[in-house]
Amino acid sequence: MRESSHLTPVPTFAGSGVPLSLARPSQAAPGAPATDARTTDAGARVDRTLLYVARTPDDTLVAHLKSRGWAVLVARTAQEIARLLKPDAVCAGIVDMASFAVRDLAALEASLRRQQVGWIALANAERLADPEVRRLIRHYCFDYVKMPVAHATIDYLVGHAFGMVTLYDADVPVDIAHEGDEMVGTCDAMQQLFRTIRKVANTDAPVFISGESGTGKELTAVAIHERSPRRNASFVAINCGAIPHHLLQSELFGYERGAFTGANQRKVGRVEAANGGTLFLDEIGDLPMESQASLLRFLQEGKIERLGGHESIAVDVRIISATHVDLEDAMRDGRFRADLFHRLCVLRVDEPPLRARGKDIEILAHHILHKFKSDSARKIRGFTPSAIEAMYNYNWPGNVRELINRVRRAIVMAETKLISAEDLDLGNYSAQQTMTLSQAREAAEKRAIEAALLRHRHRLNEAATDLGISRVTLYRLMGAHGLRDAGGDDKALFPGDGDVRE
Ligand SMILES: Nc1ncnc2c1ncn2[C@@H]1O[C@H](COP(=O)(O)OP(=O)(O)OP(=O)(O)O)[C@@H](O)[C@H]1O
Ligand SMILES: [Mg+2]
Repeated sequence: MRESSHLTPVPTFAGSGVPLSLARPSQAAPGAPATDARTTDAGARVDRTLLYVARTPDDTLVAHLKSRGWAVLVARTAQEIARLLKPDAVCAGIVDMASFAVRDLAALEASLRRQQVGWIALANAERLADPEVRRLIRHYCFDYVKMPVAHATIDYLVGHAFGMVTLYDADVPVDIAHEGDEMVGTCDAMQQLFRTIRKVANTDAPVFISGESGTGKELTAVAIHERSPRRNASFVAINCGAIPHHLLQSELFGYERGAFTGANQRKVGRVEAANGGTLFLDEIGDLPMESQASLLRFLQEGKIERLGGHESIAVDVRIISATHVDLEDAMRDGRFRADLFHRLCVLRVDEPPLRARGKDIEILAHHILHKFKSDSARKIRGFTPSAIEAMYNYNWPGNVRELINRVRRAIVMAETKLISAEDLDLGNYSAQQTMTLSQAREAAEKRAIEAALLRHRHRLNEAATDLGISRVTLYRLMGAHGLRDAGGDDKALFPGDGDVRE
């Protein structure tokens, strides 16, 4: 994911100049003033490569770009892009979205994700109306232009995009944003979260992430690490709640050979393994008191001692911690040390719950569908309006993880090309479908019969009297509404008056 850069200069790491890459809505417009980045390639550079991706390339555009000094590579498919792109070389990119069918654009996504290409999208009004195209532009392109457009505008934008990617360090891994790590979010709360991630990534201070289960705390911790100057060192995660208490000390700090029975060789703990990188302490609220004390000591001194060892080892790690429990409560109850909390929570990141993310619920659902739709042999195209409505009405206690699970299940269960509220197991959350008057009458009739049967515990004579119909009519209507099985087998539906059916 990448941001449009030349209206709002992209913040970069001190020194390394790696553009950040979290999703945000495109807000740039062609013709905005250039930043310094563009001037870096304004000189007579001979290695200005431009990858032009189009189903039907425009020869006059290619000729024009060549006349402007670009070494132009033309690709018509994702395979051709993969073949042409050298792993480390940076280049500008033009992707002509209007020349591809929307379904074919999906195949280009992996290429668009390549961080060494500064992409500019060409689009037309029809393509720009498509949410999938808008998502691709928002996530991966510096900017887009609506065709037709003057060549001079394209010159300006590709020069700018190229300038931005040349700011990369040659040794930055180009593929840090794997498919599974993509963080989707366009609502204000998520934009705020992305801004916070960018800011905290630049420092070494401990970060505390709080949020309900499944909101993306671990994803955020990884995003901070990957955007920090420590990105080339390890990111080590430890789930404090999942490791038995008696093993936690040795997991965290390691042990020397012979430290206890069974310690046949030295083991390096997770803290030490993260040296130079980031240590992610997940479910920190579950840390037992004993480990809280050791962790506090480590945070104060920057040194650890392996179990059974006598040597103090200096370890340089950046700490990120997370929990879904209320640590303020835990501190009040004496289950969590306040001094440790203040050490861990120098910077705080709050993950918004999914129900507070508005339109992102729908965007995420499509994102997940797109990612997992190959799980089904059926070509699933999207969601029914009532499925979308149900997603907005539902409370999402398990947040994004629950949404992923429901959509994945629905992909398997769906019997048509559109996922329904029932496929998501959210049938109760969509409002009544529109219905004709006769359907409404029928539904009301069924409800009245059900209520009368319930009131009279399936005594048909009394229910029929209540409803003002004969018992035979009631029996016939029950059949028509599929209610005969509700109370038992048919034979038993003709008992004498007063028969109780339970
Ligand atoms: N903004 C997002 N965009 C895309 N995927 C997301 C987003 N947030 C979370 N996810 C996905 O949701 C799942 C849960 O995320 P994660 O494990 O980071 O949550 P968590 O808050 O650590 O959950 P828990 O409290 O249960 O440990 C992961 O598969 C993650 O990739
Ligand atoms: Mg987690």
